[in-house]
Amino acid sequence: MPQHHSLTADRRSPVRASAPDALQDPASALGRCGVAVSGFREVLRIGSATLIRADSLDVLTALAEAAPGSIGAVLGDPPYSSGGATAGERARPPSQKYQQSEYRHRHAEFAGDMRDQRSFLAWSALWMARAREATVSGGLIGTFTDWRQLPVTTDALQVAGWVWRGIVPWDKTQAVRPTLGRYRTQAEYVAWGTNGPRTMAGPTAPGVYTVSVPKVKLHMAAKPVALMEGLLSVMEGPVLDPFMGSGTIGLACANLGLPYIGVEIDAGHFDGACRRIEAHGQAGE
Ligand SMILES: C[S@@+](CC[C@H](N)C(=O)[O-])C[C@H]1O[C@@H](n2cnc3c(N)ncnc32)[C@H](O)[C@@H]1O
Repeated sequence: MPQHHSLTADRRSPVRASAPDALQDPASALGRCGVAVSGFREVLRIGSATLIRADSLDVLTALAEAAPGSIGAVLGDPPYSSGGATAGERARPPSQKYQQSEYRHRHAEFAGDMRDQRSFLAWSALWMARAREATVSGGLIGTFTDWRQLPVTTDALQVAGWVWRGIVPWDKTQAVRPTLGRYRTQAEYVAWGTNGPRTMAGPTAPGVYTVSVPKVKLHMAAKPVALMEGLLSVMEGPVLDPFMGSGTIGLACANLGLPYIGVEIDAGHFDGACRRIEAHGQAGE
C-alpha cells in the first residue's frame, strides 16, 4: 500500500526551519521540521535534485508551513485542462485531446487534465498561493499555459498574490501541424511574475523562445531542455517544479548547477523522470 502523507500534527504545532537552513536545503528542512519527507509516497535524491512522488498540493503546503521562503523560484508546467471548446470535450483523456490519432497510445496518459475552467482557476490559484508562500521574497514564478487557458492562468497568478509581470511566448516553429484555412497553433506561453518587488540586477533573458518540440519524448507533454534552460537563466535555486512529468526542468537544472525539487503524482511518469535524471547525471560525471 502506498504511504499517504499526513500533515495534521504539524499543522497544529508547526515547527519552522531557520531561514538559512531552509534556503540551503528545503527538502531536508521539511524532514527536520517533522513534516516527514518520507511521508510522501516516494522520495529520491539524485545529486542536488530531490524527486518526490506526491500530489504537489501536499508538498507545497508542507513547504509553505515548514520552510516558508525556502524556494528560490518556481517553474511549473501543469496540466492545462485545455483542448476543446466545451467542458465535455475538455474532460476527454489527454491523448484524445492533444494527439493525432496515429500517435495515440505512444505515450501514457497523465493526471489532472480534466478540470472545467472554473475549477482549473480555483486549483491553479491554490497551488500558486502555496508556491508563493514557499518562495523567497522577490523570487520568480513561470508557469506554462496555452492560448485558451492564458486568461485564467494570469488571473490565478494574481489571485495567489504574485505580481504578474508578463508573458513569455514559446514559439514551437512551423514544424507544428498546420490547420487549413486558419493560423497555426504554434505557440504556448509562460505567464511569469514575482513574489513582491524584485531587485533590478543580474542577467537578462530573452522574452521569446523559438525552439521546436523534442522529436523524441518520454512524455506526451514534454518540453525541450533548451527552453527550460533559457527560462531558468534568470532564476535562483532551489527551483521547485510541481509537475515534473518526464523531468525536463530537472535536467535543465542539472546543466545549470541549480538545486531542484521535482514533484510528480503519477507513478509511471515519476519512475521515468527518476531514470532520466539519474542517467543524465551519470552521463555528465
Ligand atoms: C504537462 S506535464 C509536465 C511535462 C514536463 N514539463 C516534461 O517536460 O516532461 C504535467 C505533469 O503533472 C502531473 N500532475 C498532474 N497533477 C499533479 C499534481 N496534483 N501533483 C503532481 N503532479 C501532477 C501529470 O501527471 C503530468 O505528468
